[in-house]
Amino acid sequence: MIFVTGGAGFIGANFVLDWLGATDEPVVNLDKLTYAGNLQNLSTLQGDARHVFAHGDMGDSALVARLLAEHRPRAVVNFAAESHVDRSIHGPEDFVQTNVIGTFRLLEAVRAYWSSCSADEQRSFRFLHVSTDEVYGSLAADDPAFTEDNKYEPNSPYSASKAASDHLVRAWHHTYGLPVLTTNCSNNYGPFHFPEKLIPLMIVNAIAGKPLPVYGDGMQVRDWLYVKDHCSAIRRVLEAGRIGETYNVGGWNEKPNIEIVKTVCALLDELRPRTDGKRYAEQITYVTDRPGHDRRYAIDARKLERELGWKPAETFDTGIRKTVEWYLAHEDWVRNVQSGAYRDWVSKQYGGA
Ligand code: NAD
Ligand code: TYD
Repeated sequence: MIFVTGGAGFIGANFVLDWLGATDEPVVNLDKLTYAGNLQNLSTLQGDARHVFAHGDMGDSALVARLLAEHRPRAVVNFAAESHVDRSIHGPEDFVQTNVIGTFRLLEAVRAYWSSCSADEQRSFRFLHVSTDEVYGSLAADDPAFTEDNKYEPNSPYSASKAASDHLVRAWHHTYGLPVLTTNCSNNYGPFHFPEKLIPLMIVNAIAGKPLPVYGDGMQVRDWLYVKDHCSAIRRVLEAGRIGETYNVGGWNEKPNIEIVKTVCALLDELRPRTDGKRYAEQITYVTDRPGHDRRYAIDARKLERELGWKPAETFDTGIRKTVEWYLAHEDWVRNVQSGAYRDWVSKQYGGA
């Protein structure tokens, strides 16, 4: 079986669902259920013995040691993190605690477990760390896209904490021989994306008749990858990636934010027209820019294609349409994550355990 952290969040939940859609290999899913973690994302797995959910912190060494000893996974995939740049600006400490200290403690627990495995088990074991392109910093308009050899130049508390975790993972390989893999992916979008991030926020605000806040001039560029393509890349790297290597994952889909927002508005005009006959784009509002806002990210994903034959299946046009349709079909999910009803349920169900 495999052991996943953060599997109730956006990418982790998509990964667990896709994994169990593709194979019968069970998944142990350790998630702290922060505001971003939501068991409703995994409701289709209710009663499915292949999914073992454990509520807890990857920084809880005793808990992780117990779970590893009990389930004896052949691999760990680390999604757990604080992931929102704006939150990291308002409260960086949680990011250091989770992304740096949490990853450190997880690595130590995994190293102890791995050391106790047989030589064969040790050879086939993998620790896959899921990271971001933001560790490379910001590109000028005419710079080439990030390759795996780019310097780390993180600019936000979020990207600095992810960069620190990447360095720890690297060091645990070089110093202790832990068989690690790291993926650095661009901006994901798709089902179960928490509506604090650009694309889901725009969809949700648009249909609620609220302003669509675009930071600064809206000309910051991101590379966008449909989340299922990120999941297939992780599966492929886990299967065949070279130990100790990093792989950039991207969608060859660089777009300025304002273009993303206008595309979302146009899809909503088609799929759920405003009742007053106006266009959703009229709700776009330019607001004060994010401090230290990175201007451009772009991913060169050729290593992953060359070495492991991975390519994204979705174009931005197909992926964004699926995404908007998903949000229109899942307004209950949106209401639950927004209202706090889900959080109340978690403390009732788990009693803060
Ligand atoms: P998310 O914020 O939606 O989910 C994070 C999950 O981790 C939540 O379920 C949360 O409850 C859980 N978690 C947080 N702290 C934990 C802890 N200490 N122990 C156990 N679980 C904990 O994040 P996401 O967007 O799904 O991102 C997943 C990973 O992918 C992160 O490491 C992120 O840095 C990376 N990443 C994200 C993107 C993106 O566009 N979202 C792009 C590239 C890389
Ligand atoms: P976000 O989804 O927060 O991802 P990241 O900061 O990790 O790239 O933001 C994507 C881009 O959209 C980023 O350039 C900031 C911008 N943005 C807005 O313009 N308005 C918003 O309300 C949000 C949340 C983001």
